[in-house]
Amino acid sequence: MLGLKDLSCTFDVSAPFLTRLISRLPKQEVKAVSGVSFGVRRGETLALVGESGCGKSTLARLLAGLYKPTAGSIDFEGFVEKSSGSPDFERDIAGRLNMIFQDPYASLNPRMRIADIIAEPLETLHPDWTKEAVEKRVRESAELVRLPESALAKFPHQFSGGQRQRISIARALAARPEFLICDEPTSALDVSVQAQVLNLMKELQLEFGITYLFISHNLAVVHHMSDRVGVMYLGKLVELASRDDLFRNPKHPYSRMLLDAIPHLKETGKARTPVQGEVPSPLNPPSGCAFHPRCPRATEICRTTPPQFKGIDIVPGSAAPGSETARYCACHHPL
Ligand SMILES: Nc1ncnc2c1ncn2[C@@H]1O[C@H](COP(=O)(O)OP(=O)(O)OP(=O)(O)O)[C@@H](O)[C@H]1O
Ligand SMILES: [Mg+2]
Repeated sequence: MLGLKDLSCTFDVSAPFLTRLISRLPKQEVKAVSGVSFGVRRGETLALVGESGCGKSTLARLLAGLYKPTAGSIDFEGFVEKSSGSPDFERDIAGRLNMIFQDPYASLNPRMRIADIIAEPLETLHPDWTKEAVEKRVRESAELVRLPESALAKFPHQFSGGQRQRISIARALAARPEFLICDEPTSALDVSVQAQVLNLMKELQLEFGITYLFISHNLAVVHHMSDRVGVMYLGKLVELASRDDLFRNPKHPYSRMLLDAIPHLKETGKARTPVQGEVPSPLNPPSGCAFHPRCPRATEICRTTPPQFKGIDIVPGSAAPGSETARYCACHHPL
């Protein structure tokens, strides 16, 4: 349904031109996303995990057409976005691909009533709809996320975080999208509300057959929600596998490190390995494999040569490229 090829996004974060000239500073760039390729099948939930700053939100915004790629391409059901040309991608995908943003406090306009917030995308997408048709869809969408009808006349500040995130979901669902990008939809919520929102999202997937790209740094949430998981590190995808393969038998030492940090009910008392080291600055990424300074398996080749992101066969022939069990990993010494 969705395919990305060598997708990259670089931000220019240099000091202003004159300051740079006077203090003789070089130009500085952040490679927020670099060379990411993967595909998402219709009806599945693909999760993206990784530490803060690894480029998850940037990737989500690229897919939603909010940022332009610096290189590479995105193909959503035949609509292609490239660094050059295709100015209409955002318009082509409007209504079919939608996004729920990370921060439920910042993503709702405080001056608009809830009914208008949910109706806004509909009015842009379907200018020919009557007022009654829009109102009906707004009420249906609110009902889907179990917002009471009285909520529609209120303003965002009158709601709690969990309710706001449900409003965001109602807005994203109003146009009945086929593909929903969820950027940490529940990370601002407490655990019990988180469970409610996640289960609601699963129900909606069953009901409408929505495909999800689900971004989170919470591995328990990812395990609950996803069919396949991609692990990102410093702007790159380092491993892609089905959920069970990844959780049972990770191949990349970074995935292993993330999984080792999860508390385990059966192993209470056992010392857990904390995630070691810090994410290096994306302004100045390490040479070779970006993970090598933190990697217990690193050797000389890791310091010099960036590993390729390629398919790995665990049982020979079991994982044809593109099949559900295909696994990919970017590591010189996979586990
Ligand atoms: N508009 C921007 N201008 C400059 N740099 C940016 C911009 N947006 C993101 N970045 C940089 O790109 C990198 C990736 O940021 P991004 O927000 O995608 O991370 P993330 O994985 O979503 O993190 P988190 O888990 O904290 O949400 C960061 O180093 C960030 O500083
Ligand atoms: Mg983010």
